[in-house]
Amino acid sequence: MTVILGLESSCDDTSAALVTADRRVLAQAVVGQNAAHQPYGGVVPEIAARAHAEILPALIRQVLDDAKMSVRDVDAVAATAGPGLIGGVMVALLAGKGLALAAGKPLIAVNHLEGHALSPRLVNPDLEFPYLLLLVSGGHCQLLEVRGVGDYQRLATTIDDAAGEAFDKAAKLLSLAYPGGPAIEELARNGDPAAVPLPRPLVGSGEPHFSFAGLKSAVQRAVASGDHTPADIAASFQQAVVDCLVDRAALALRGSDAPALVVAGGVAANHTIRGALADLAQREGRRFAVPPAWLCTDNAAMIAWAGIERLAAGLTDNLDAPARARWPLDESAEKVRGAGVKA
Ligand code: KG4
Ligand code: ZN
Repeated sequence: MTVILGLESSCDDTSAALVTADRRVLAQAVVGQNAAHQPYGGVVPEIAARAHAEILPALIRQVLDDAKMSVRDVDAVAATAGPGLIGGVMVALLAGKGLALAAGKPLIAVNHLEGHALSPRLVNPDLEFPYLLLLVSGGHCQLLEVRGVGDYQRLATTIDDAAGEAFDKAAKLLSLAYPGGPAIEELARNGDPAAVPLPRPLVGSGEPHFSFAGLKSAVQRAVASGDHTPADIAASFQQAVVDCLVDRAALALRGSDAPALVVAGGVAANHTIRGALADLAQREGRRFAVPPAWLCTDNAAMIAWAGIERLAAGLTDNLDAPARARWPLDESAEKVRGAGVKA
């Protein structure tokens, strides 16, 4: 049975995992850096890169020990090669190159976004191509038609902030800890989603894209007004994001024959968002798939799984594979106004 060692260090989570072609996660270790970045309210690239370099070797040792394997027992090493914070990206990619070289195994340089995009197939054996993917993370907010391994058509992207970035910025305005998504979701439980009137940028528009910058400014005004409780602001903000995501996904579904709507990326860990998109899929007569929360936020199991899919398609890389800060899944997609390029 094919086994791949996956490595991830493109943002603020360091991770190693061993995954088999028959969809078993033999071992996974993830170490986040939230405490290190919390004082700054966001990820500090230099701190992140140093932390990855310190932690990753121990995580590789740990997963191999947990699975009672040596690197000689794996069939290939898959490492994230971008997009992301370049200092961090280089840590997993170089570690992967070193292991592949030493053990004489193929290297697979994985696009982090492809890791997110294929992650639902790790847990859903019957999820076939094509599917419509809503990829929502800290650096990306895109709708893509996933036609096959390495075959993506971008239908929509954000013209300003990513969805996760909006959560993180709103959380900062509410003096909540980084990362903002889980903190807002928790606070929103005790709030009224209809209490604070907030805009839904681009909702109802025929333009396919997303926008969240105006929503952030409105949250800023709501906080400054002193008229609302933090819980009401959090719940109303979360509802506004839900409405934007559902409206944009609905527009894309109406233009697509894809039988399934799939959501992936860190923001897909949010239960209100998962529920609203499941309802949308049902209304539109499509299947719905979302990975479990541990597979939505950054992890190496999804990188190992993308490696399994790429190896099966005969796609391996040379040891000179570059680390890329920017690496769109659909290279032919046009840049849109001010679209964020963070991972
Ligand atoms: O995919 P991910 O772990 O890293 C990137 O590749 O960006 O996504 C991280 C983002 C952060 O912005 C975080 O606030 C958001 O995902 N996030 C959430 C939740 N959990 C993580 N957003 C909303 N609700 C959540 N429960
Ligand atoms: Zn990610």
